[in-house]
Amino acid sequence: MNEEQWSKVDQYLVSPLVGSDQSLNQALSKSDEAGLPPINVAPNQGKLLMLLSAMSGATRVLEIGTLGGYSTIWLARSLPSSGTLISLELEPHHASVARDNLEGAGVGSLVEIRVGPANASLRHMIDEGTEPFDFIFIDADKEGYPEYLELSLRLSRVGTVIVADNVIRNGEVSNIASTDPRVLGVRTFLERASSDSRLKGTAVQTVGSKGYDGFALFVVAQ
Ligand code: SAH
Ligand code: DHB
Ligand code: MG
Repeated sequence: MNEEQWSKVDQYLVSPLVGSDQSLNQALSKSDEAGLPPINVAPNQGKLLMLLSAMSGATRVLEIGTLGGYSTIWLARSLPSSGTLISLELEPHHASVARDNLEGAGVGSLVEIRVGPANASLRHMIDEGTEPFDFIFIDADKEGYPEYLELSLRLSRVGTVIVADNVIRNGEVSNIASTDPRVLGVRTFLERASSDSRLKGTAVQTVGSKGYDGFALFVVAQ
């Protein structure tokens, strides 16, 4: 089994079950034209995020790591018209491509992109007493995951769902000899989440058109 096989199955699943539309396809082609790296979630993963957010009944969604707004469009589609999505992005160029893509997808009015280092944006929201979020998607720099978890918890309530992307990294997550700072970031994130009595969670490995990786999923408990 290899990436070619996983991609074939992803294509098989996506064509009837997930669907694609012009807005999502255009978001990817515009991101590509603008030189953004193709590290967005896969279509079936994007739809999974939409479903998880909808299942949690979210009206306030926080995303950490916007890129060209592909996952943002999926998450925005889980929201009622009164909903809000705040997405945090370091790179002004990524944010500007994402802004256009969100407008193109007709969800621009639901989404606010905040440009700058995510930890600073999160601290700013905490200081401002921002209302807690219902659903949080962590997908920015992997080194930052431990801090994003801690700050996300301060923007959560009992019942908030937290999903983190890229926690398997080709299986490197279980290589205790790894010195890759991204792997170390994810390991520290998983260890802290596991030992935090406020969180109940799990992680699952995934294969598909985006290779071998996985998600971690938590709910904030009493
Ligand atoms: N969620 C997107 C992919 C995000 S890729 C999708 O699936 O479509 C990760 C993004 O995080 C990149 O755009 C990168 O610029 C951004 N990023 C990296 N470091 C960051 C930081 N410190 N603060 C905020 N964003 C950061
Ligand atoms: C990388 C980041 C991501 O969010 C992703 O989904 C895949 C790869 C990266 O930084 O390499
Ligand atoms: Mg990712």
